[in-house]
Amino acid sequence: MEQRTLDTFALGGDLEVKRLGFGAMRITGDGIWGPPDDPEEPKRLLRRVVERGVNLIDTADSYGPEVSEELIAEALHPYPDDLVIATKAGLRRTGPGEWPRDARPERIKECCEGSLRRLRLDRIDVYQLHAPDPNVPIEESLGAMRELQEQGKVRHIGVSNVSPEDLDRARAVVEVVSAQCRFSLTDRAQEPVLDACEQAGLAFIPWFPLATGDLAKPGGPVDEIARAHDATPAQVALAWLLQRSPVMLPIPGTSSIEHFEENLGAAELRLSDEEMASLGAAA
Ligand SMILES: NC(=O)c1ccc[n+]([C@@H]2O[C@H](COP(=O)([O-])OP(=O)(O)OC[C@H]3O[C@@H](n4cnc5c(N)ncnc54)[C@H](OP(=O)(O)O)[C@@H]3O)[C@@H](O)[C@H]2O)c1
Repeated sequence: MEQRTLDTFALGGDLEVKRLGFGAMRITGDGIWGPPDDPEEPKRLLRRVVERGVNLIDTADSYGPEVSEELIAEALHPYPDDLVIATKAGLRRTGPGEWPRDARPERIKECCEGSLRRLRLDRIDVYQLHAPDPNVPIEESLGAMRELQEQGKVRHIGVSNVSPEDLDRARAVVEVVSAQCRFSLTDRAQEPVLDACEQAGLAFIPWFPLATGDLAKPGGPVDEIARAHDATPAQVALAWLLQRSPVMLPIPGTSSIEHFEENLGAAELRLSDEEMASLGAAA
């Protein structure tokens, strides 16, 4: 059965996605490094994600590296027409848990060729700069993405891990459709980026929406409201995000079908104004 109650967002004006997406970082091996123990499990999960009507999958060439994109293609290609895969470029992997930045234009172009090949696509729907590289002006990294867009290899461009100033600089070079930043009930440091996205009508994609599961724990900060709704803390944390802003597109990450189903249930949950206010004041 498809999710019924999720409203949609027109990403880039023309890609209608359900507002609760799926983060495909956690389907690799430990430390987001290498393959998972049983590659069939994440493939089952990915098929379930699509069956349930979720049509925004976030990934990156650096997840694994390469593993997440490869599993997505193995599980889902040929893709449903409405599926939007948002991938990223601009980091290297040198070992488990290591993510050095490299957003030189030549590197971005190399990453793009690799992602197109692994995802078996002619064009990437949403291509995100994973993070600004302190050694490369953001205009140069985005300039490479603009070239890829002009060549038809990229449909829309997004940014990630940016400040409001970075976002302004990026938008002066290309049409940016989304910004992805760390954001959750307990971590709102990037609220100014959310505000900028709201003003400009861009999607804001909060990563770490469950704070690595901490917000999902019984006894955690959202447990009481969860009990009142006969819901779980993870669902409350996600429902708070969905209600916090109409441009919010959370992409909770999991390796488990059970957790995925639970997270999807957040779409059914409606928090009252009082609950939104009390959660808002709690962090
Ligand atoms: N742009 C960036 O720099 C950046 C950085 C990090 C992540 N991301 C993207 O954002 C997505 C989400 O971020 P994230 O995966 O780091 O954080 P998250 O979604 O907040 O948390 C994922 C963690 O929570 C657990 N979890 C998920 N659902 C749960 C539930 N219902 N109950 C209990 N535990 C649950 C997962 O474990 P189980 O596997 O056991 O469910 C996993 O350990 C990623 O998949 C990736 O696509 C982007």
